[in-house]
Amino acid sequence: MPTAAIILAAGKGTRMQSEQPKVLHGIAGAPMLAHVLRTADAIAADRCVVVVGHGAAQTAAAAQEYAPEVLIAEQEEQNGTGHAVQMAQTALEGFYGDALILYGDTPFITPETLARMVEKRTEGNAIVVLGFHTETPGRYGRLMVDDDGSLDAIIEAKDCTEGQLMVDYCNSGVLCAPAPLLFALLDDVSNDNAAGEFYLTDVIALARGRGLKCAAIACDEAETMGVNSRADLAAAEAAFQARARAEAMENGATLIDPSTVFFAFDTYLGRDVVIEPNVFFGPGVTVESGATIKAFCHLEGCHISEGCIIGPFARLRPGAELGGGVRIGNFVEVKNAEMAQGSKANHLAYIGDGTVGKDTNIGAGTIFCNYDGVMKHRTEIGERAFIGSNSALVAPVRIGTEAVIASGSVITSDVPDGALAIGRGKQENKPKLGMRLMDRLRAIKASKS
Ligand code: UD1
Ligand code: MG
Repeated sequence: MPTAAIILAAGKGTRMQSEQPKVLHGIAGAPMLAHVLRTADAIAADRCVVVVGHGAAQTAAAAQEYAPEVLIAEQEEQNGTGHAVQMAQTALEGFYGDALILYGDTPFITPETLARMVEKRTEGNAIVVLGFHTETPGRYGRLMVDDDGSLDAIIEAKDCTEGQLMVDYCNSGVLCAPAPLLFALLDDVSNDNAAGEFYLTDVIALARGRGLKCAAIACDEAETMGVNSRADLAAAEAAFQARARAEAMENGATLIDPSTVFFAFDTYLGRDVVIEPNVFFGPGVTVESGATIKAFCHLEGCHISEGCIIGPFARLRPGAELGGGVRIGNFVEVKNAEMAQGSKANHLAYIGDGTVGKDTNIGAGTIFCNYDGVMKHRTEIGERAFIGSNSALVAPVRIGTEAVIASGSVITSDVPDGALAIGRGKQENKPKLGMRLMDRLRAIKASKS
C-alpha cells in the first residue's frame, strides 16, 4: 500500500515569542520540521505534503531545502487540525494509498511506530490513531476505547465531561487512514465545539457512524514530545542528545564524558572513534574509524578520515577534508581545504581555501591569506613540503613538492619544487651596540631621579 505523509506546520507558536515560525527552530542543528521530514523519508512515503500558514514562504523554503520533492499546501487561516489536513487534498489528488498525519512540532515519532500503525491498518481498521498513556493528560484529546479494544471516539479535553477527563489514554494527534476516506470524512466535520474549530479528531466518530472499525496503538510518551516554548525546545534538544550519545556508544565510539558532547542530526561516527569531553558537532560531520577528537573542538561540514587526531581546541569548518592520519592541533582552523594523508598542522594556524599535499608540515602560526578584501583565493602546497613557523602565504600561490619556506616569510609568489624560499627582512648584527644602548638608557633614568 503506498503511503503519503501530511505534516501540519501552519500554527503560529505564540509561546515561542519569536519572529521565526515555530517549526523552523532548531534541534541538533536542523529545524524541527527537518526531523519530521526525515521520519517521513524513513517510512518511504510516496508523497509528502507540508501544510504551511504562519511564515508560509520561509517554512516552505526550509522544507524544500531538506526534502526537495516535498509538496506545499497553504492554510491561510488556522481553523483547526481537520481544516489543515483538508488543505493537502489538492496535492494528494490521484493518491489512493494511506495518509499519515504528522506534526512539524512533534519531531520524535519514530519510523518504527509509524510502521506499526500502517500494519494495524491492514487488520481491518479504517483509521488508526497513535495514543499514549500519561500521568498528566491535561489538555490532550482523550481516546475512548470500547470493551473489544476498538477506538470509539476522540474527545477534546475542552469538550470532555468530568468522567471523560479521568481517562489517561491520550491522542498524540498522529493518525493513519486511506486518503480518499479521510477527505470524505473531513467534508462532514463541523466546527460546532468548544473551540469553534474543525477538529481532525472528529473523523473517528464519523467513521464509526459509517460502520467502519477504528483502532488506537500506544507508543512511549517520550515519542510524542511536542515543542510549544523555548523550555520545550531545550528539553527536546536534551532528549535528542541523550539518544544520540547512547547510539554513538552502542555503535562503538568512546565518549569519555557523554553529557558534554553535542551531536548534530546527521553526525556520522565510525567504530573506535574516541571523543574527549566538550566537543560540539555542527551539521555535516563524518568521522571515520579510529580517529580521535580531543577536548574542546568545534566541528561542522567536515570529513575526518581514519586515524586522524584532532585538537584539543581545533575548529574544522565546512569543506575541511582531512585524509588518513592527519593531525590538527590546538588553535588551528581549517575551512574549505583538503589536507592529504599524513599532513600536519599542530599549532596556531589558519588553513583556508587550499590544498596541502601528503606528509607536508605546516608550522606554528602559518596563515593562508585567502581573502584580499573582495575575493577569496587558493593556496596550493605539494607533498612533503615544510612551511616554517609564522609564515603568511598570500593567495593565490603555489608551493611545490618538497619546498621549504623559511620561518617568518611572507610568500607572495610561487615556490618551485624543492626550493627554499625566504621572504623576510635580512638579519643584521651590530657588535657591542646592544650593551651601549642599555648603558645610555640607564644613565638617562638615573639623571631623572
Ligand atoms: C491536537 C488534538 C488533540 C491531541 C493534541 C496532541 C485536535 C482537534 N486535537 O490538539 O486531540 O491530544 O493535538 O498534541 O486535532 N495546526 C495547523 N493548522 C490549524 C491548527 C493546527 O497547522 O489550523 C497544527 C499546529 O501548528 C500544531 C498541530 O497542528 O502543530 C496541532 O494543533 P494544536 O492546535 O496544537 O492542537 P491541540 O489543541 O494541541
Ligand atoms: Mg494547541
